[in-house]
Amino acid sequence: MSAKYDQLVAREKAVFMPAVRRWPVALERGQGSRVWDVDGKEYVDLTAGWGVTSIGHCHPALADAIADQARTLMQTTNLVYTKPQLELAERLARLAPAGLKRSFFTSSGAEANEGALKLTARKTGRARFLSTFNSFHGRTLGVMGCLGQDKYRGPWQHIVREATFVPFGDVDAVRAALTPEFAAMIVEPVQGEGGVVVPATDYLKRVADACHAVGALLIADEVQTCIGRTGRWFACEHAGVVPDVLTFGKGIGGGFPLAGFMATEEVMAAIQPGDHGGTYAGNPLACRAGAAVMRVIENEKLVERAAMLGKDTLARLASFAQKHAQKVEQVRGLGFLIGVVLRDPAVAATAHAAMRERGVLVNLTADRVLRLFPALNIPERDLAEGLDALEACVASA
Ligand SMILES: Cc1ncc(COP(=O)(O)O)c(C=O)c1O
Repeated sequence: MSAKYDQLVAREKAVFMPAVRRWPVALERGQGSRVWDVDGKEYVDLTAGWGVTSIGHCHPALADAIADQARTLMQTTNLVYTKPQLELAERLARLAPAGLKRSFFTSSGAEANEGALKLTARKTGRARFLSTFNSFHGRTLGVMGCLGQDKYRGPWQHIVREATFVPFGDVDAVRAALTPEFAAMIVEPVQGEGGVVVPATDYLKRVADACHAVGALLIADEVQTCIGRTGRWFACEHAGVVPDVLTFGKGIGGGFPLAGFMATEEVMAAIQPGDHGGTYAGNPLACRAGAAVMRVIENEKLVERAAMLGKDTLARLASFAQKHAQKVEQVRGLGFLIGVVLRDPAVAATAHAAMRERGVLVNLTADRVLRLFPALNIPERDLAEGLDALEACVASA
C-alpha cells in the first residue's frame, strides 16, 4: 500500500466508529462502472456502490440534475409542495405495480421499512410482524426486529422487539405462523444480503394470499430489487403480485441517499396528517436525483438490458460452474442480481480478495456467495472483464 493510503487509514483510525471491517481500498473517483483509488489503481465495480449506482458512477444526466437542483432548492420542509417530489411520485405511480399509487420518501432503506411497518400496524390495528430467516431489512431499532440474521440482530436482542421468523420460500410455514394478531409479513422478493436466494415464482403470490386470509398485509422489501435490478421495474412483477406496501431504495437514487415506500390507496387511507414524517422526507435534491435516474433507466431501456444481460451472465457463469463443480455449488439470480455460491467459505474469501487485487470489486455475502449487482448500464467490456476475473480467481483459489 502507498504512503497516501497508509496516511488515510491512520487518520480515520483516530476518528471513526470502528463498526466496519474495511477492504484495503481507498476510492477517490468513479465513472460508469469503473472506480479509481487514491493511487490511481482502476477497478471494475460489479457492486455498483452496493446496488446503488444503477446508471453507473457519476452519470452526467444525474450529476447535472443534482447540480441544477442544488442551485435551485436543496431543502425545505415537507409542509410545502415541491415539484421534484411530485414528479418522482408521479413517475413511480406510473411504473410501479398497478394499485400502488401513493409514495412517501425517506433517505435510507431502513427508514423506508420502518415507515412500512408503522403503516401496516396503523392500518390493521395489530402489532406483530412475520419475517424470514436470512433476511435483511436494515439496521435501525424497529426494523432490526425483522432482520432474520443472528449475526446482525443477536447483539441487540435485548433492545429489539423481535418478529416471528419462518424459512424463506416456505409458504406452509407462513400459513402455520400467521394468526389474526399479525399486522404484516415483510419479505424480500429475492433475498439479497442473505445470499441471492430466488424463491419459486409463485411464492410471493401464495404469501400474499396467506397474509390476506388472516387480515394481515404484505410488505415487499424491494430496497435492493427495485428499479430494474432484477430485469423488471420491481421484482414483484415476476410473480404478478401487487403487495399492500412496497419499499424501495438503493438504485432509485443512483448514489444520492433516497428510499421510500408505496402503498395501495386503501392502506394509505389509514394515515392522517402528522402520523409520520422526517426532516429529509421528500428532500427536493434527493427527489430530483431519483427522477433523473428513473428517466435515464426508462429512456435507455435499462430494465430490459438488465434482464437480457443478466440472463447471459447467468448462462455464462452456470457453464463455468459446471466445469468447476468441485468449487462452485450453484449459480443463481434474477436480472442483474447474481450469486455465485462456492462450496467453501475459505475459497470464497481467497477468490474475493484475488479479484480485488486484480482490479474487480465484488461482494462476498452469506460467507460463501460472491454477489454481483452491477450498474444496469455496465458496458459489456467491463462486465466481461469482471467475469473473466471472477472465473480466473475462483479457478485458482
Ligand atoms: C432488502 C434490503 N432492505 C433494506 C436494506 C437497508 O437499506 P439501507 O442500508 O439503505 O438502510 C437493505 C440494504 O442492504 C436491503 O438490501
